Amino acid sequence: MSKTDRSEQASLEGYEVLLCVTGGIACYKCADLTSKLVQAGAGVTVAMTDSAQQFITPLTFQTLSARQVYTSVWQSSREYDTQHISLTDLADLMVVAPATANIMAKLAHGIADDLVSSLALSSHGQCDILLAPAMNTRMWEAPATQDNLQRLLGWGVHTIGPNEGFLACRSVGRGRMAEPAEILSDISRLLVRKPAKKHHTAS
Ligand SMILES: Cc1cc2nc3c(=O)[nH]c(=O)nc-3n(C[C@H](O)[C@H](O)[C@H](O)COP(=O)(O)O)c2cc1C
Repeated sequence: MSKTDRSEQASLEGYEVLLCVTGGIACYKCADLTSKLVQAGAGVTVAMTDSAQQFITPLTFQTLSARQVYTSVWQSSREYDTQHISLTDLADLMVVAPATANIMAKLAHGIADDLVSSLALSSHGQCDILLAPAMNTRMWEAPATQDNLQRLLGWGVHTIGPNEGFLACRSVGRGRMAEPAEILSDISRLLVRKPAKKHHTAS
């Protein structure tokens, strides 16, 4: 982030973002998103699906966020903790980026068969969700995905993108994940509407 970018960016100091990374090629852009969030002052905790780990390693996010990365509901932590619930207790916003067609389908139907989908269910009443979908145009336009999107929007889930552009499948169309800078500005817009939970509980 350049000096100019940083001065235009609202401070996210005190806000907690739960960044959930699912399995699409756009995963690599979420390393940049993590770095941008950290530079804006946000605390970032990353959770990843198994598929996401085929594209990018937890170590990348661990290094950029300077925090433990969560990959499983069965993962042991130092203290007894049900992290599929507790991670959303602290979060001011849950961001799913990239959001696969699969995770959108799971969220739209209340399926909780892994950490990320369980976190989404447990976010109810705790924090808003922002999805940054990314997929092949045919997957995006498929009636199932569009139905799932409408269902999620109806429940108040926020979305950004996907944009039109060059896709990893070497075609041009709608399905490209919004750029990290666009996602960051949407996250800021959503976060600054409310005081950070940390501040709220302290007062
Ligand atoms: C090379 C490759 C790229 C993929 N890219 C995407 C993608 O951009 N969007 C998507 O919805 N699925 C994509 N998939 C398919 C998902 O990885 C697959 O549906 C997976 O089950 C998603 O799991 P998750 O939602 O638990 O992360 C891709 C698969 C491969 C092998």
